[in-house]
Amino acid sequence: MAKPIPRATALENLRFSLTYTIPGLLRGAFTTQPRWLDLMARLDTNRRANDVVTKLRVRYGGRSIWVRGPVGPVLLVLSQGDIKRVLSASDHAFSLASPEKVAGLSLFQPDSLVLSAGELRDDRKGFNEAVLAAEERVHPLGDHFMTVVADEMDVLLAGVGVGLLTRDAFDAAFARAARRILFGDSARNDIRISRLLRALRAEANWLGLRTWRSRRNRALLRRMNGKIRSYAAKAEPGSLMAMFAQAPSSARTDPVGQVSHWLMAFDVLGMGIMQTLALFAVHPLKAAEAAADIRSAEEEYGKGTVAAVTAMPYLKASLLEGLRLWAPVPTLMRVTTEPVDWHGDKLPAGVNVMIPASLHHRNPQLGYADRFAPEAWISGEAGEDWWINPFSRGRGQCPGASLALLIGPAALAALLRDRRYELLEPQMRADRPLPLTINAARFRFAVRLPGPSAPREAVPEARKAGADSRPAPSQD
Ligand code: HEM
Repeated sequence: MAKPIPRATALENLRFSLTYTIPGLLRGAFTTQPRWLDLMARLDTNRRANDVVTKLRVRYGGRSIWVRGPVGPVLLVLSQGDIKRVLSASDHAFSLASPEKVAGLSLFQPDSLVLSAGELRDDRKGFNEAVLAAEERVHPLGDHFMTVVADEMDVLLAGVGVGLLTRDAFDAAFARAARRILFGDSARNDIRISRLLRALRAEANWLGLRTWRSRRNRALLRRMNGKIRSYAAKAEPGSLMAMFAQAPSSARTDPVGQVSHWLMAFDVLGMGIMQTLALFAVHPLKAAEAAADIRSAEEEYGKGTVAAVTAMPYLKASLLEGLRLWAPVPTLMRVTTEPVDWHGDKLPAGVNVMIPASLHHRNPQLGYADRFAPEAWISGEAGEDWWINPFSRGRGQCPGASLALLIGPAALAALLRDRRYELLEPQMRADRPLPLTINAARFRFAVRLPGPSAPREAVPEARKAGADSRPAPSQD
Protein backbone atom coordinates (compact mmCIF):
# COMPACT_ATOMS: atom_id res chain seq x y z
CA MET A 1 0.00 0.00 0.00
CA ALA A 2 1.54 3.31 -1.09
CA LYS A 3 2.11 5.88 1.67
CA PRO A 4 0.18 9.14 1.19
CA ILE A 5 2.20 12.12 -0.03
CA PRO A 6 3.36 14.11 3.03
CA ARG A 7 2.04 17.61 3.65
CA ALA A 8 4.23 20.50 4.81
CA THR A 9 3.27 21.92 8.21
CA ALA A 10 1.83 25.42 8.52
CA LEU A 11 5.23 26.75 9.60
CA GLU A 12 7.04 25.04 6.73
CA ASN A 13 4.49 26.45 4.30
CA LEU A 14 5.01 29.91 5.69
CA ARG A 15 8.80 29.64 5.46
CA PHE A 16 8.67 28.33 1.89
CA SER A 17 6.24 31.05 0.80
CA LEU A 18 8.22 33.85 2.42
CA THR A 19 11.57 32.76 1.01
CA TYR A 20 10.64 31.33 -2.42
CA THR A 21 7.08 31.71 -3.69
CA ILE A 22 6.47 35.34 -2.76
CA PRO A 23 9.95 36.58 -3.78
CA GLY A 24 9.46 34.67 -7.07
CA LEU A 25 6.24 36.56 -7.77
CA LEU A 26 7.69 39.92 -6.75
CA ARG A 27 10.82 39.33 -8.84
CA GLY A 28 8.50 38.88 -11.83
CA ALA A 29 7.72 35.59 -13.54
CA PHE A 30 8.02 36.92 -17.11
CA THR A 31 10.38 39.85 -16.77
CA THR A 32 12.47 40.77 -13.75
CA GLN A 33 11.74 43.78 -11.60
CA PRO A 34 15.12 45.26 -10.63
CA ARG A 35 13.80 47.23 -7.66
CA TRP A 36 12.42 44.15 -5.92
CA LEU A 37 15.50 42.19 -6.85
CA ASP A 38 17.70 44.69 -5.02
CA LEU A 39 15.88 43.89 -1.82
CA MET A 40 15.96 40.14 -2.45
CA ALA A 41 19.65 40.22 -3.26
CA ARG A 42 20.31 42.12 -0.02
CA LEU A 43 18.43 39.45 1.94
CA ASP A 44 19.73 36.64 -0.34
CA THR A 45 16.23 35.16 -0.26
CA ASN A 46 17.24 32.21 -2.42
CA ARG A 47 19.89 31.23 0.15
CA ARG A 48 17.17 31.26 2.82
CA ALA A 49 14.86 29.26 0.55
CA ASN A 50 17.66 26.78 -0.05
CA ASP A 51 18.04 26.29 3.71
CA VAL A 52 14.28 25.70 3.98
CA VAL A 53 14.29 23.17 1.12
CA THR A 54 17.39 21.40 2.47
CA LYS A 55 15.57 20.92 5.80
CA LEU A 56 12.45 19.67 4.00
CA ARG A 57 14.54 17.13 2.07
CA VAL A 58 15.96 15.79 5.32
CA ARG A 59 12.70 15.81 7.23
CA TYR A 60 10.67 14.03 4.52
CA GLY A 61 13.47 11.72 3.42
CA GLY A 62 13.60 13.25 -0.07
CA ARG A 63 9.93 12.53 -0.80
CA SER A 64 8.03 15.16 -2.72
CA ILE A 65 5.51 16.98 -0.52
CA TRP A 66 2.38 19.08 -0.73
CA VAL A 67 2.93 22.76 -0.10
CA ARG A 68 0.44 25.60 -0.31
CA GLY A 69 0.85 27.68 -3.48
CA PRO A 70 -0.80 31.03 -4.20
CA VAL A 71 -3.83 29.32 -5.77
CA GLY A 72 -3.94 25.94 -4.08
CA PRO A 73 -1.85 22.87 -3.31
CA VAL A 74 1.39 22.27 -5.23
CA LEU A 75 3.51 19.13 -5.29
CA LEU A 76 7.02 20.30 -4.43
CA VAL A 77 9.59 17.98 -5.99
CA LEU A 78 12.42 17.30 -3.57
CA SER A 79 14.43 14.39 -4.92
CA GLN A 80 16.58 13.67 -7.92
CA GLY A 81 14.47 10.59 -8.65
CA ASP A 82 11.26 12.62 -8.71
CA ILE A 83 12.82 15.35 -10.89
CA LYS A 84 13.71 12.60 -13.35
CA ARG A 85 10.24 11.06 -13.04
CA VAL A 86 8.53 14.35 -13.92
CA LEU A 87 10.89 15.63 -16.61
CA SER A 88 11.20 12.33 -18.43
CA ALA A 89 7.44 11.68 -18.37
CA SER A 90 5.10 12.45 -21.25
CA ASP A 91 4.66 16.18 -21.92
CA HIS A 92 0.97 15.44 -22.46
CA ALA A 93 0.47 13.92 -19.00
CA PHE A 94 2.76 16.50 -17.31
CA SER A 95 1.87 19.58 -19.33
CA LEU A 96 4.13 22.65 -19.38
CA ALA A 97 1.03 24.85 -19.56
CA SER A 98 0.62 25.35 -15.81
CA PRO A 99 -2.05 27.86 -14.71
CA GLU A 100 0.32 30.77 -14.04
CA LYS A 101 2.06 30.24 -17.41
CA VAL A 102 -1.33 30.26 -19.14
CA ALA A 103 -2.30 33.43 -17.25
CA GLY A 104 0.92 35.28 -18.10
CA LEU A 105 2.15 33.90 -21.43
CA SER A 106 -1.25 34.08 -23.11
CA LEU A 107 -0.80 37.86 -23.17
CA PHE A 108 2.11 37.68 -25.58
CA GLN A 109 2.32 34.14 -26.94
CA PRO A 110 -1.19 32.65 -26.84
CA ASP A 111 -0.41 30.24 -29.69
CA SER A 112 3.08 29.19 -28.63
CA LEU A 113 4.41 25.67 -28.13
CA VAL A 114 4.48 26.01 -24.33
CA LEU A 115 0.75 26.72 -24.16
CA SER A 116 -0.28 24.08 -26.74
CA ALA A 117 -1.76 20.69 -25.88
CA GLY A 118 -2.25 17.32 -27.54
CA GLU A 119 -1.61 16.89 -31.26
CA LEU A 120 -1.26 20.62 -31.72
CA ARG A 121 1.67 20.60 -29.28
CA ASP A 122 3.37 17.80 -31.26
CA ASP A 123 2.81 19.75 -34.47
CA ARG A 124 4.28 22.97 -33.06
CA LYS A 125 7.10 21.12 -31.35
CA GLY A 126 8.18 19.69 -34.71
CA PHE A 127 8.15 23.18 -36.21
CA ASN A 128 10.13 24.75 -33.33
CA GLU A 129 12.68 21.95 -33.37
CA ALA A 130 13.21 22.22 -37.13
CA VAL A 131 13.66 26.01 -37.24
CA LEU A 132 15.89 26.07 -34.16
CA ALA A 133 17.74 22.90 -35.32
CA ALA A 134 17.27 21.50 -31.83
CA GLU A 135 18.86 18.16 -32.66
CA GLU A 136 21.89 19.64 -34.41
CA ARG A 137 25.03 20.61 -32.56
CA VAL A 138 25.50 23.42 -35.06
CA HIS A 139 22.61 25.35 -36.54
CA PRO A 140 22.66 25.33 -40.39
CA LEU A 141 22.87 29.15 -40.31
CA GLY A 142 25.55 29.02 -37.60
CA ASP A 143 28.29 30.64 -39.70
CA HIS A 144 26.15 33.67 -40.40
CA PHE A 145 25.05 33.90 -36.75
CA MET A 146 28.72 33.96 -35.69
CA THR A 147 29.33 36.96 -37.96
CA VAL A 148 26.30 38.77 -36.56
CA VAL A 149 27.35 38.17 -32.94
CA ALA A 150 30.96 39.20 -33.65
CA ASP A 151 29.77 42.40 -35.41
CA GLU A 152 27.49 43.49 -32.61
CA MET A 153 30.00 42.70 -29.85
CA ASP A 154 32.64 44.68 -31.78
CA VAL A 155 30.31 47.66 -32.01
CA LEU A 156 29.60 47.34 -28.28
CA LEU A 157 33.27 47.17 -27.33
CA ALA A 158 34.22 50.01 -29.66
CA GLY A 159 31.64 52.16 -27.88
CA VAL A 160 32.79 51.11 -24.41
CA GLY A 161 36.53 51.37 -25.13
CA VAL A 162 38.53 50.97 -21.95
CA GLY A 163 35.71 52.18 -19.78
CA LEU A 164 32.44 51.02 -18.30
CA LEU A 165 30.30 48.13 -19.56
CA THR A 166 26.77 48.18 -18.17
CA ARG A 167 24.05 45.59 -18.46
CA ASP A 168 21.91 48.05 -20.43
CA ALA A 169 24.65 48.62 -23.02
CA PHE A 170 25.17 44.88 -23.42
CA ASP A 171 21.43 44.22 -23.66
CA ALA A 172 21.00 46.81 -26.41
CA ALA A 173 23.85 45.24 -28.42
CA PHE A 174 22.69 41.68 -27.85
CA ALA A 175 19.11 42.60 -28.77
CA ARG A 176 20.40 43.94 -32.11
CA ALA A 177 22.14 40.62 -32.69
CA ALA A 178 18.99 38.72 -31.67
CA ARG A 179 16.78 40.68 -34.07
CA ARG A 180 19.22 40.10 -36.93
CA ILE A 181 19.33 36.37 -36.17
CA LEU A 182 15.58 36.06 -35.82
CA PHE A 183 14.31 38.44 -38.48
CA GLY A 184 17.26 39.49 -40.64
CA ASP A 185 19.55 42.51 -40.90
CA SER A 186 16.67 44.85 -41.70
CA ALA A 187 15.38 44.34 -38.13
CA ARG A 188 18.66 45.40 -36.52
CA ASN A 189 17.31 48.72 -35.28
CA ASP A 190 13.69 47.72 -34.85
CA ILE A 191 13.62 48.68 -31.18
CA ARG A 192 9.82 48.94 -31.38
CA ILE A 193 9.31 45.22 -31.64
CA SER A 194 11.48 44.66 -28.57
CA ARG A 195 9.58 47.39 -26.70
CA LEU A 196 6.23 45.87 -27.58
CA LEU A 197 7.36 42.54 -26.18
CA ARG A 198 8.79 44.20 -23.07
CA ALA A 199 5.50 45.96 -22.36
CA LEU A 200 3.56 42.71 -22.73
CA ARG A 201 5.98 40.79 -20.52
CA ALA A 202 5.68 43.43 -17.81
CA GLU A 203 1.93 43.08 -18.03
CA ALA A 204 2.24 39.27 -17.90
CA ASN A 205 3.83 39.59 -14.46
CA TRP A 206 0.34 40.56 -13.26
CA LEU A 207 -0.90 37.16 -14.45
CA GLY A 208 -3.82 38.70 -16.32
CA LEU A 209 -5.26 40.23 -13.14
CA ARG A 210 -5.37 43.75 -14.59
CA THR A 211 -8.37 42.89 -16.75
CA TRP A 212 -9.08 46.57 -17.42
CA ARG A 213 -5.95 46.61 -19.59
CA SER A 214 -7.08 43.70 -21.80
CA ARG A 215 -8.01 45.82 -24.79
CA ARG A 216 -4.68 47.70 -24.72
CA ASN A 217 -2.80 44.38 -24.35
CA ARG A 218 -4.59 42.86 -27.31
CA ALA A 219 -3.68 45.90 -29.39
CA LEU A 220 0.01 45.56 -28.39
CA LEU A 221 -0.06 41.87 -29.29
CA ARG A 222 -1.63 42.63 -32.68
CA ARG A 223 1.07 45.23 -33.41
CA MET A 224 3.88 42.88 -32.36
CA ASN A 225 2.54 39.94 -34.36
CA GLY A 226 1.96 42.24 -37.35
CA LYS A 227 5.65 43.09 -37.32
CA ILE A 228 6.66 39.44 -36.96
CA ARG A 229 4.33 38.56 -39.86
CA SER A 230 5.95 41.09 -42.14
CA TYR A 231 9.44 39.78 -41.29
CA ALA A 232 8.22 36.22 -41.89
CA ALA A 233 6.90 37.29 -45.31
CA LYS A 234 10.30 38.77 -46.22
CA ALA A 235 12.13 35.61 -45.04
CA GLU A 236 15.52 37.36 -45.22
CA PRO A 237 18.29 34.92 -46.09
CA GLY A 238 20.41 34.04 -43.05
CA SER A 239 17.58 34.64 -40.56
CA LEU A 240 15.46 32.09 -38.71
CA MET A 241 12.51 33.34 -40.76
CA ALA A 242 14.22 31.86 -43.82
CA MET A 243 14.02 28.43 -42.16
CA PHE A 244 10.20 28.49 -42.06
CA ALA A 245 9.78 27.27 -45.63
CA GLN A 246 11.63 23.99 -44.94
CA ALA A 247 10.16 23.31 -41.48
CA PRO A 248 7.27 20.87 -41.13
CA SER A 249 4.01 22.75 -40.57
CA SER A 250 0.28 22.35 -40.94
CA ALA A 251 -2.62 24.76 -41.26
CA ARG A 252 -2.68 24.96 -37.44
CA THR A 253 1.03 25.43 -36.67
CA ASP A 254 0.95 29.23 -36.65
CA PRO A 255 4.68 29.90 -37.30
CA VAL A 256 4.32 33.60 -36.43
CA GLY A 257 2.78 32.67 -33.06
CA GLN A 258 5.96 30.81 -32.07
CA VAL A 259 8.32 33.72 -32.47
CA SER A 260 7.65 35.96 -29.46
CA HIS A 261 8.86 33.13 -27.19
CA TRP A 262 12.14 33.05 -29.11
CA LEU A 263 12.56 36.81 -28.87
CA MET A 264 12.04 36.57 -25.11
CA ALA A 265 14.43 33.61 -24.91
CA PHE A 266 17.26 35.67 -26.39
CA ASP A 267 16.97 37.94 -23.33
CA VAL A 268 17.40 34.85 -21.15
CA LEU A 269 20.55 34.00 -23.08
CA GLY A 270 21.83 37.57 -22.70
CA MET A 271 21.38 37.31 -18.96
CA GLY A 272 23.31 34.02 -18.94
CA ILE A 273 26.18 35.62 -20.90
CA MET A 274 26.38 38.53 -18.45
CA GLN A 275 26.32 36.20 -15.45
CA THR A 276 29.16 34.21 -16.96
CA LEU A 277 31.15 37.36 -17.68
CA ALA A 278 30.70 38.35 -14.02
CA LEU A 279 32.03 34.96 -12.94
CA PHE A 280 35.09 35.41 -15.13
CA ALA A 281 35.58 38.90 -13.75
CA VAL A 282 35.85 37.58 -10.21
CA HIS A 283 37.85 34.49 -11.22
CA PRO A 284 40.79 35.86 -13.25
CA LEU A 285 42.56 32.51 -13.40
CA LYS A 286 39.51 30.99 -15.01
CA ALA A 287 39.25 33.97 -17.34
CA ALA A 288 42.87 33.28 -18.33
CA GLU A 289 41.95 29.66 -18.98
CA ALA A 290 39.04 30.79 -21.16
CA ALA A 291 41.36 33.19 -23.03
CA ALA A 292 43.73 30.26 -23.70
CA ASP A 293 40.77 28.23 -25.00
CA ILE A 294 39.78 31.08 -27.33
CA ARG A 295 43.35 31.60 -28.55
CA SER A 296 44.04 27.99 -29.37
CA ALA A 297 40.66 27.41 -31.08
CA GLU A 298 40.97 30.60 -33.16
CA GLU A 299 44.57 29.87 -34.13
CA GLU A 300 43.44 26.53 -35.46
CA TYR A 301 40.08 27.40 -37.03
CA GLY A 302 40.00 31.18 -37.54
CA LYS A 303 38.52 34.02 -35.50
CA GLY A 304 34.75 33.95 -34.97
CA THR A 305 34.09 30.79 -36.99
CA VAL A 306 31.66 28.06 -36.02
CA ALA A 307 34.55 25.58 -36.00
CA ALA A 308 36.46 27.76 -33.52
CA VAL A 309 33.48 28.36 -31.24
CA THR A 310 32.62 24.66 -31.08
CA ALA A 311 36.23 23.98 -30.15
CA MET A 312 35.94 26.10 -26.97
CA PRO A 313 34.64 23.58 -24.41
CA TYR A 314 35.73 25.72 -21.48
CA LEU A 315 33.59 28.66 -22.61
CA LYS A 316 30.55 26.46 -23.16
CA ALA A 317 31.05 24.84 -19.75
CA SER A 318 31.41 28.29 -18.16
CA LEU A 319 28.16 29.49 -19.72
CA LEU A 320 26.40 26.40 -18.38
CA GLU A 321 27.82 27.30 -14.97
CA GLY A 322 26.47 30.83 -15.31
CA LEU A 323 23.07 29.26 -15.96
CA ARG A 324 23.40 26.76 -13.10
CA LEU A 325 24.46 29.24 -10.44
CA TRP A 326 21.66 31.73 -11.19
CA ALA A 327 19.07 29.84 -13.22
CA PRO A 328 17.25 32.34 -15.48
CA VAL A 329 14.31 29.91 -15.52
CA PRO A 330 14.27 29.37 -11.77
CA THR A 331 11.19 27.15 -11.48
CA LEU A 332 9.98 24.38 -13.76
CA MET A 333 6.21 24.07 -13.44
CA ARG A 334 4.05 21.24 -14.72
CA VAL A 335 0.36 20.37 -14.40
CA THR A 336 -1.04 16.87 -14.68
CA THR A 337 -3.71 16.51 -17.36
CA GLU A 338 -4.71 12.93 -16.48
CA PRO A 339 -4.25 10.61 -13.50
CA VAL A 340 -0.56 9.60 -13.35
CA ASP A 341 1.33 6.95 -11.36
CA TRP A 342 3.22 8.35 -8.42
CA HIS A 343 5.18 5.86 -6.35
CA GLY A 344 2.43 3.26 -6.65
CA ASP A 345 -0.27 5.83 -6.00
CA LYS A 346 -2.23 7.99 -8.46
CA LEU A 347 -1.89 11.75 -8.82
CA PRO A 348 -5.19 13.06 -10.15
CA ALA A 349 -5.49 15.34 -13.16
CA GLY A 350 -5.03 19.05 -12.43
CA VAL A 351 -2.18 18.76 -9.91
CA ASN A 352 0.43 21.52 -10.06
CA VAL A 353 3.98 20.22 -9.80
CA MET A 354 6.91 22.49 -8.94
CA ILE A 355 10.63 21.82 -9.48
CA PRO A 356 12.54 24.69 -7.80
CA ALA A 357 15.48 24.33 -10.19
CA SER A 358 17.39 27.37 -8.93
CA LEU A 359 17.56 25.75 -5.48
CA HIS A 360 18.29 22.20 -6.62
CA HIS A 361 21.20 23.59 -8.68
CA ARG A 362 22.69 24.74 -5.35
CA ASN A 363 21.94 21.56 -3.42
CA PRO A 364 24.63 21.45 -0.71
CA GLN A 365 25.18 17.78 -1.62
CA LEU A 366 26.91 19.00 -4.80
CA GLY A 367 30.59 19.46 -3.95
CA TYR A 368 30.69 22.56 -6.16
CA ALA A 369 27.23 23.95 -5.22
CA ASP A 370 28.28 27.53 -4.49
CA ARG A 371 31.39 27.99 -6.58
CA PHE A 372 32.17 28.53 -10.25
CA ALA A 373 33.06 25.06 -11.52
CA PRO A 374 33.22 24.79 -15.33
CA GLU A 375 35.23 21.61 -14.81
CA ALA A 376 32.07 19.87 -13.53
CA TRP A 377 30.55 20.26 -17.04
CA ILE A 378 33.75 19.33 -18.83
CA SER A 379 33.97 16.06 -16.89
CA GLY A 380 30.29 15.38 -17.67
CA GLU A 381 29.41 15.27 -13.95
CA ALA A 382 27.06 18.27 -13.97
CA GLY A 383 25.44 17.36 -17.30
CA GLU A 384 24.51 13.91 -16.03
CA ASP A 385 23.20 15.12 -12.69
CA TRP A 386 19.40 15.36 -12.51
CA TRP A 387 19.63 18.02 -9.81
CA ILE A 388 20.85 20.37 -12.54
CA ASN A 389 18.50 21.36 -15.37
CA PRO A 390 19.17 24.84 -16.78
CA PHE A 391 17.51 23.87 -20.09
CA SER A 392 15.06 21.38 -18.54
CA ARG A 393 15.12 17.85 -20.00
CA GLY A 394 13.00 15.28 -21.74
CA ARG A 395 9.99 16.28 -23.82
CA GLY A 396 9.91 19.79 -22.37
CA GLN A 397 13.61 20.43 -22.92
CA CYS A 398 14.44 23.80 -24.44
CA PRO A 399 14.58 23.39 -28.23
CA GLY A 400 16.81 26.50 -28.35
CA ALA A 401 19.52 24.96 -26.11
CA SER A 402 21.87 24.00 -28.90
CA LEU A 403 21.52 27.42 -30.55
CA ALA A 404 22.06 29.16 -27.20
CA LEU A 405 25.18 27.08 -26.56
CA LEU A 406 26.59 28.22 -29.89
CA ILE A 407 25.68 31.91 -29.72
CA GLY A 408 26.49 32.34 -26.02
CA PRO A 409 30.12 31.15 -26.24
CA ALA A 410 30.56 33.18 -29.45
CA ALA A 411 29.53 36.34 -27.61
CA LEU A 412 31.75 35.49 -24.64
CA ALA A 413 34.70 34.82 -26.95
CA ALA A 414 34.24 38.24 -28.55
CA LEU A 415 34.04 39.92 -25.15
CA LEU A 416 36.99 38.10 -23.58
CA ARG A 417 39.36 37.86 -26.56
CA ASP A 418 41.26 41.12 -25.96
CA ARG A 419 39.78 42.44 -22.74
CA ARG A 420 39.83 41.90 -18.98
CA TYR A 421 36.86 42.77 -16.77
CA GLU A 422 36.54 43.93 -13.22
CA LEU A 423 33.11 43.52 -11.64
CA LEU A 424 32.10 46.82 -10.03
CA GLU A 425 28.54 45.84 -9.16
CA PRO A 426 27.14 43.68 -7.61
CA GLN A 427 29.89 42.73 -5.21
CA MET A 428 31.11 39.16 -5.39
CA ARG A 429 34.26 37.41 -4.26
CA ALA A 430 35.91 34.23 -5.41
CA ASP A 431 36.96 33.27 -1.88
CA ARG A 432 33.39 33.30 -0.54
CA PRO A 433 30.47 31.03 -1.46
CA LEU A 434 28.70 32.74 -4.36
CA PRO A 435 25.39 34.40 -3.40
CA LEU A 436 22.23 32.61 -4.53
CA THR A 437 20.34 35.82 -5.26
CA ILE A 438 21.85 38.55 -7.41
CA ASN A 439 20.37 41.43 -9.29
CA ALA A 440 21.77 40.75 -12.74
CA ALA A 441 20.22 44.00 -14.03
CA ARG A 442 22.83 45.92 -12.02
CA PHE A 443 25.93 44.39 -13.61
CA ARG A 444 28.64 46.99 -14.21
CA PHE A 445 32.13 46.11 -15.36
CA ALA A 446 35.34 48.09 -15.70
CA VAL A 447 36.83 47.04 -19.03
CA ARG A 448 40.62 46.81 -19.30
CA LEU A 449 43.17 45.67 -21.82
CA PRO A 450 44.99 42.50 -20.74
CA GLY A 451 47.85 43.55 -18.46
CA PRO A 452 51.39 42.14 -18.45
CA SER A 453 51.08 40.79 -14.88
CA ALA A 454 49.74 37.30 -14.23
CA PRO A 455 46.17 37.40 -12.89
CA ARG A 456 45.75 36.85 -9.19
CA GLU A 457 42.73 35.18 -7.70
CA ALA A 458 41.79 34.62 -4.08
CA VAL A 459 41.57 30.89 -3.46
CA PRO A 460 38.83 29.51 -1.21
CA GLU A 461 39.80 26.90 1.36
CA ALA A 462 38.20 23.94 -0.47
CA ARG A 463 40.16 24.72 -3.62
CA LYS A 464 43.49 25.02 -1.81
CA ALA A 465 42.99 21.35 -0.96
CA GLY A 466 42.99 20.61 -4.70
CA ALA A 467 39.25 20.30 -5.15
CA ASP A 468 39.32 22.66 -8.12
CA SER A 469 41.85 21.05 -10.42
CA ARG A 470 40.55 20.88 -13.98
CA PRO A 471 40.07 17.35 -15.28
CA ALA A 472 41.00 16.34 -18.81
CA PRO A 473 38.61 17.79 -21.40
CA SER A 474 35.88 15.48 -22.63
CA GLN A 475 35.24 14.79 -26.32
CA ASP A 476 32.51 17.45 -26.43
C1 HEM B 1 20.44 30.43 -22.07
C2 HEM B 1 19.36 30.47 -22.78
C3 HEM B 1 18.12 29.65 -22.51
C4 HEM B 1 17.73 28.99 -21.37
C5 HEM B 1 18.42 28.93 -20.02
C6 HEM B 1 16.47 28.36 -21.69
C7 HEM B 1 15.76 27.58 -20.79
C8 HEM B 1 14.58 26.94 -21.09
C9 HEM B 1 13.85 26.09 -20.19
C10 HEM B 1 14.29 25.76 -18.76
C11 HEM B 1 12.74 25.67 -20.83
C12 HEM B 1 11.69 24.72 -20.28
C13 HEM B 1 10.74 25.42 -19.39
C14 HEM B 1 9.94 24.42 -18.61
O1 HEM B 1 10.28 23.24 -18.56
O2 HEM B 1 8.96 24.84 -18.02
C15 HEM B 1 12.74 26.26 -22.14
C16 HEM B 1 11.76 26.07 -23.08
C17 HEM B 1 11.77 26.61 -24.33
N1 HEM B 1 12.79 27.38 -24.89
FE1 HEM B 1 14.51 27.92 -24.00
N2 HEM B 1 16.13 28.64 -22.98
C18 HEM B 1 17.13 29.41 -23.53
C19 HEM B 1 17.20 29.89 -24.81
C20 HEM B 1 16.26 29.65 -25.79
C21 HEM B 1 16.35 30.15 -27.13
C22 HEM B 1 17.53 30.98 -27.68
C23 HEM B 1 15.21 29.76 -27.77
C24 HEM B 1 14.75 30.03 -29.17
C25 HEM B 1 15.32 30.85 -30.02
C26 HEM B 1 14.41 29.00 -26.81
C27 HEM B 1 13.18 28.44 -27.07
C28 HEM B 1 12.43 27.70 -26.17
C29 HEM B 1 11.11 27.14 -26.46
C30 HEM B 1 10.34 27.27 -27.76
C31 HEM B 1 10.70 26.46 -25.29
C32 HEM B 1 9.38 25.71 -25.07
C33 HEM B 1 9.63 24.22 -25.10
C34 HEM B 1 8.37 23.37 -24.95
O3 HEM B 1 7.29 23.87 -24.68
O4 HEM B 1 8.54 22.15 -25.12
N3 HEM B 1 15.09 28.97 -25.63
N4 HEM B 1 13.88 27.02 -22.29
